[in-house]
Amino acid sequence: MGLVKHKRLLLGVFLAFIPIAAICQSAEYTEIIEQRQALYREIGTAVKAIRDETRKSAPMNFVIKSSVKRIASGLREVQPMFPEGSGPEAGIETKALESIWKNKAEFESRYTKAIEQADKLVLVAKQKDMKKTRAQLKSLGRECKGCHDKFRFDE
Ligand code: HEC
Repeated sequence: MGLVKHKRLLLGVFLAFIPIAAICQSAEYTEIIEQRQALYREIGTAVKAIRDETRKSAPMNFVIKSSVKRIASGLREVQPMFPEGSGPEAGIETKALESIWKNKAEFESRYTKAIEQADKLVLVAKQKDMKKTRAQLKSLGRECKGCHDKFRFDE
């Protein structure tokens, strides 16, 4: 009798820990997924700020300067934020497709190219030539789109 009770207690303790472990795991991915999405939104806002500014009759160079830097640093921050398990299987809202982890080499090489274009944008923007800045922003935009077309869920 005493032994049965003891076993039941152990089973109860064991079962109680399963959901806690599951919650901890998804919380770990929730943070990284939300962080990378927030960073991407910042990057997107910076792209828009540059586009808007280059179209003005009197562009404010400090806006362009800080925005180009934000894109280059933001892309570098996001790159390592795709750990295995943080895709659709995490059960959290994410547009990251499973194909990222199936084609990790291509994903990384696309990332490298995007960072190269972002670094080039930082240099081009220093010339304060709005036409050139816009053209380079377009080249960078092609890299963003190229990756999204292949690795981001599109409703
Ligand atoms: C190598 C791949 C890759 C590159 C390069 C890339 N992205 Fe993304 N982007 C993604 C993925 C994957 C997601 C989905 C992330 C998620 O939902 O967890 C995403 C999501 C986003 C989002 C939506 C964020 C949200 O959830 O609200 C924006 C905005 C965005 N990217 C902008 C950009 C811009 C602008 C660039 C270029 C300067 C860029 N991205 C470059 C892969 C990339």
